This record gives sequence, C-alpha cells and structure tokens, in this order.
Amino acid sequence: MEIAQIFKNNEEWIKNHLEEDPSYFEKLAEGQEPKYLYIGCSDSRVSAEAVMGAKPGEVFVHRNIANLAPNNDLNILSVVVYAVKHLKVKHIVVCGHYNCGGIKAAMQPDDMGILNPWLRNIRDVVRLHQKELESIDSEEKRYRRLVELNVQEQCLNVVKMKEVQRAILDRNLRVHGWVFDISTGRLIDLKIDFQEIAEHLGDIYKLV
Ligand code: CO
Repeated sequence: MEIAQIFKNNEEWIKNHLEEDPSYFEKLAEGQEPKYLYIGCSDSRVSAEAVMGAKPGEVFVHRNIANLAPNNDLNILSVVVYAVKHLKVKHIVVCGHYNCGGIKAAMQPDDMGILNPWLRNIRDVVRLHQKELESIDSEEKRYRRLVELNVQEQCLNVVKMKEVQRAILDRNLRVHGWVFDISTGRLIDLKIDFQEIAEHLGDIYKLV
C-alpha cells in the first residue's frame, strides 16, 4: 500500500462515517470509555479491532513483540494502571497468536542483539514449563503450546499487579487469556483458571 493511498483511504473513511452520523467525530472527541484493555502482539496480521469486531472507543490497546507484560516494563505497567485505575476497564485480555515470530525466535538460542532481553522473558516461560514442553514430540505442537503458556504467564504478570488485584476484589475486573489462530481467523479462549493458579501462588504474589 502506497502512502498516498493511505490518505485517500482516510478521506473515504471520514466520508463514510459522516454519511452515517454527521456528529460521529465530535462524539468520538468527547472521550473514551472502553470496557476492554487488549494486550496483544505487534504482528501486522493480528489487528485487535478487526479480530474482535470492535469500533473506535471500545478497546484500549497495547501491542508489543509477543504480547509480553514484563514486571519491569514501564510501558506495559503504565498502560495497565491507566486502564484499570482511570479508564476502569471491566476486562483485561492478553491475546497471543499461533505463528508468532517472537515466540519462534525465543525458541532458538540465537543471539538476537538488542532483542535478547525482551526474548528472555519468553525464554523464562520455556524454563518455567520446560518439563511439559519437552514432553511434546512435535516441534510445531511445542511452538503452539509455548504461545499458549506465554499468554498464561503474561496474564499472571498482570494479575501480580496490586492495582489489578484490587480491582478484581473491588469491582470484579476479569482477566482473560486468548489465542488468535491466524490460519482459521478464530479467537480461542484458553479459559485459564486463575482461581486454581492463585491458590498455588497466592502466598508468593499476594499484595492486597
Ligand atoms: Co507475534
């Protein structure tokens, strides 16, 4: 897609919206009240809004390589706290996807330069689940499972945050782990049982 085409598309988009509702953009400018915080991968094939069928104003979005939520990343921490404390989202979704280049890169021990510390977060997921991953014969299946386990661990990173725990207790904020299957277009709910996980890890991470 050429740059000129992007601006043409934008004009077309404005026209279509104004035809439907002449005050569409005025209303949009008034503010946002999204119910969802979506944490996903930067992969160009996984567009949060398109996959969810969401309109502008409905989803607060954070994307990075391999949908990570590291405990010391000021960017993701700020996004989560802002979404939970100020926007008061009702749901936090961590959405991974099969065929994720970041996950694949982390599965190889290659030197990726400046990307190494970022990928190390995924390699830590491998270490935490080494037994299960090593028991999977097929590399393709192992790759898919690591995508899922990474979503689970990033959900846990989110749940470890005091602000998130407080909102879960006070106003029933929900955290979800999903995977997008690029080859079918389907969103899969991993149905992560946080209650069970919390029983095991509650003493280590409990903050509130
Ligand atoms: Co990806």
